[in-house]
Amino acid sequence: MKQQGIITLEQFIVDQQALYKDATGAFSRIFRAIELASKLVNRDVRKAGLADILGDFGSTNVQGEDQKKLDVIANDIFIQTLSRCGEVCAIISEEMDEAVFVEGAEHAPYIVSIDPLDGSSNIDVNASIGSIFSVYRRSDTSRKPDVADCLQAGKHQAAAGYVIYGSSTMLVYTTGSGVNGFTLDDGIQEFCLSHPDMRIPEDGKIFSVNEGNFQAFPEGVQQYVNWCKEKDAETKRPYGARYIGSLIADIHRNLIKGGIYLYPPTAKDPNGKLRLMYECNTMAFIVEQAGGVASTGHERVMEVLPQELHQRVPLFIGSRNMVSQAVEMYQSALRSEAHPG
Ligand code: AHG
Ligand code: MN
Ligand code: MN
Repeated sequence: MKQQGIITLEQFIVDQQALYKDATGAFSRIFRAIELASKLVNRDVRKAGLADILGDFGSTNVQGEDQKKLDVIANDIFIQTLSRCGEVCAIISEEMDEAVFVEGAEHAPYIVSIDPLDGSSNIDVNASIGSIFSVYRRSDTSRKPDVADCLQAGKHQAAAGYVIYGSSTMLVYTTGSGVNGFTLDDGIQEFCLSHPDMRIPEDGKIFSVNEGNFQAFPEGVQQYVNWCKEKDAETKRPYGARYIGSLIADIHRNLIKGGIYLYPPTAKDPNGKLRLMYECNTMAFIVEQAGGVASTGHERVMEVLPQELHQRVPLFIGSRNMVSQAVEMYQSALRSEAHPG
């Protein structure tokens, strides 16, 4: 039997870098920072029930949501490690109103966006949570960076990834040539390649949506959700409903098993809830790289030109055929509303 042995994340990145003759090592330095931050957050997540770090921190973030202590801790950890790596000139975070411009790194070539802790309402109930990150290049490093440098469409991502603090801790990332997953070996504290070249099945049998909001969904989304629940032997319906309420955990499961995740627009929130820069673009890049689709219901998520840092967009993401069908039903109902009869 061929012995491949363990491939650590660090080794994997070095090997990948060797394939590109122009690589400067900047990427490895950013990934080393992200890896360290993930291990530190993982340590705090794992002892969350023991230490006095559970519960609301008493402040609200820019979206007016309660911040948990761990959100703040995770944000600080990512900001510190990324600021120190020397390759990042600016960091934008779901937890901060404004971009952070790193002192002394004005000419550094990369910008990173983070959702330091996703699914934070699940901290107190011991369900899976995660961290999300995207890396963007700057077009012009000769001047100081500004917010406009941070407002790039998702298609310009140089790398995207997430860490899921689940029954084990995994880091999944892409740099635009496939998706690879690494599981943290607790004993040696290394992320080890466990899911090479991840592919999302073209069809799935899982739909993930907060059905409590059903009455507020657009007609076409209601039709799609009802369709998922209909009995049909040929298409193996009804599909299973799975919704944890951590975007990371819901999409990670669907990535492996096949499925669709929806956060549709509603009359009250026409752009849904999820943030383009910290959640949707990252997951869109990963899911597309794994062979899936990510749409706002109107266009490819990664084509959206961001207007502001905390912008929200609706999200239809997952297995290719499932997303196509959901978007088609949504669009067709919109057309009927526009031209009744
Ligand atoms: P965050 O914890 O970073 O604020 O994100 C929570 C998000 C996302 O992870 C999840 O899918 C969604 O909120 C759940 O929203 P609902 O509770 O409205 O279903
Ligand atoms: Mn989030
Ligand atoms: Mn968050």
